[in-house]
Amino acid sequence: MLKFWCVFLTIIFSPCKGRDDDVRFIADNNHDFDVLIFTQVWPVTGCITWMERSKTNSCKLPSPKKIWTIHGVWPTRFGTVGPAFCNASATFDLNTLKPFEDQLEQFWINIRNGTQLDELWKHEWLKHGTCAAQLEELDNENKYFGQGLSWLQQYSMSSVLQKGGVLPDDSHTLISIHKAVVSVLNKNPSIHCVYDRKRDEIFLDEIRICFDKTLTLVDCDGVVDDSEVLIDYPGGKVITNCDLNKPISYPSEVPKYYRPELKKTEWKFPFVNIYKLFDMINLSEMNSGHKCANSTYDKQRWTIHGIWPTRVGSKSPAFCKKGKSLDIHLLEPFLDKLTLNWINVENGSSITSFWQHEWAKHGTCCAETGLGNEQNYFSQGLEWSQKFSILQILENAYITPGGKFKVVDMHKVIYEHLGHIPSIHCVSTRNGANYLSEIRLCFSKTLELIDCSVTGNAEVVYRSIATRVELLTNCNLHREITYPDTLPQMFIGSSSQSWLQKVIDFVKRSLL
Ligand SMILES: *[C@@H]1O[C@H](CO)[C@@H](O)[C@H](O)[C@H]1NC(C)=O
Ligand SMILES: *[C@@H]1O[C@H](CO)[C@@H](O)[C@H](O)[C@H]1NC(C)=O
Ligand SMILES: *[C@@H]1O[C@H](CO)[C@@H](O)[C@H](O)[C@H]1NC(C)=O
Ligand SMILES: *[C@@H]1O[C@H](CO)[C@@H](O)[C@H](O)[C@H]1NC(C)=O
Ligand SMILES: *[C@@H]1O[C@H](CO)[C@@H](O)[C@H](O)[C@H]1NC(C)=O
Repeated sequence: MLKFWCVFLTIIFSPCKGRDDDVRFIADNNHDFDVLIFTQVWPVTGCITWMERSKTNSCKLPSPKKIWTIHGVWPTRFGTVGPAFCNASATFDLNTLKPFEDQLEQFWINIRNGTQLDELWKHEWLKHGTCAAQLEELDNENKYFGQGLSWLQQYSMSSVLQKGGVLPDDSHTLISIHKAVVSVLNKNPSIHCVYDRKRDEIFLDEIRICFDKTLTLVDCDGVVDDSEVLIDYPGGKVITNCDLNKPISYPSEVPKYYRPELKKTEWKFPFVNIYKLFDMINLSEMNSGHKCANSTYDKQRWTIHGIWPTRVGSKSPAFCKKGKSLDIHLLEPFLDKLTLNWINVENGSSITSFWQHEWAKHGTCCAETGLGNEQNYFSQGLEWSQKFSILQILENAYITPGGKFKVVDMHKVIYEHLGHIPSIHCVSTRNGANYLSEIRLCFSKTLELIDCSVTGNAEVVYRSIATRVELLTNCNLHREITYPDTLPQMFIGSSSQSWLQKVIDFVKRSLL
């Protein structure tokens, strides 16, 4: 239900996932709920999250004093997220809120400067208010928003935390915050953080308290969402997505390093290996007449797709020097290695045309890094492919071609081996089969291995509660992925021509 605000700093650059979630809810006709979650947000943290999503974002924070504000009142069924969007014909009418619009602007504030004033209210009403409306006390906009404001007066986290000794800018832990809330309210809340992995910093983001259907304060026990766990500690139980063992920041101001004028665009260098289906079939047959024919292709291995300068969160540069074509003679010193490790999968086009493409599209954009000439670009690819052998790394954990494996396991092995987050790509077929297709590693501009982050491709970020480690993938997380050692049966058609065409189409799709 929190998705509207895109909780993790680490998914900051990806578009909000909210809409997808919303679709999921519309299909669900069970509108029962057990409790109303009243969620308050620390706007400074909300602002950090918002600003991290785009260089151009700015915030309107409550002033002069920073106070906890309202995110929403969410009817919730135990053990699940939702219900939501309970009335498809409902509309939002700002006019009915005119009598206390001033108060809403102050206490139920939309901190996103430049967005519609009522964007948050509209969202909260249509998504959650329409479900809360089952209760007579909350069955119109006036009552719903009025109830939120009245709960804030009574249970404002600004005063609850202060009474419990938790003040902004001091050093806190999950337990000190939890104990403070429980000592004042005598009920169990749920406590939410956002996590900036790059700086390894955790920020207090939301505190949620719960009310039963008679609007009486109750424990939040039984409430879950995608990112929460129940942690038992000596002296209590806390429902949270925060880290138990790390300090939690509760800043009174947005830290300097998040101010947009002080941030530089980061570039990353995905270095791509493709597990090519072609490696599993008779390449000398397929590529007859082409340069890359070589019997050693019979051996299974991962090969290079390219080095792609990539801008996080926006369109990546491409074709930076129009008309600059690849001078193949410059590659002569390592042509042997290239023909083995950076092979073209397309029948009918030469291996050099593949290199030409990678060079013209991506290599010409590498000027900033020392990879701006042909030799450096291609030799760097070869060097990395030797240094980071995906086949070997996976093999160490018995993840070998011919089997089916979970993406989480593949991720774990690579992450543990390299200490950095890869991005794992699959292709899937219409009948739902999933094949491992690419594993990408990312490098800084100084060519050091770093964590990959979302680039706006089909990737989704998942984050482990236990380890805080992210997983970047477009693969299905809940199914086993085929790591094929032979051409899948489905590609084997009656005539070899159509069979080959299918393979080519398949690989082309996987390259998109
Ligand atoms: C809000 O955005 C406007 C332009 O969209 C800008 O002029 C103004 O400075 C911003 N306010 C803050 C507090 O950043
Ligand atoms: C749904 O919303 C419409 C429009 O506001 C309203 O007339 C109707 O009574 C609502 N239905 C329910 C079940 O609340
Ligand atoms: C691969 O194709 C070549 C050329 O057509 C052929 O000579 C060879 O026997 C084939 N190898 C296998 C393993 O099928
Ligand atoms: C490669 O493609 C050409 C047409 O571009 C086709 O004639 C040829 O049969 C294909 N090669 C193989 C091995 O199928
Ligand atoms: C195949 O590649 C190996 C290793 O680079 C090389 O020694 C050999 O000469 C190549 N064979 C052909 C026919 O190109």
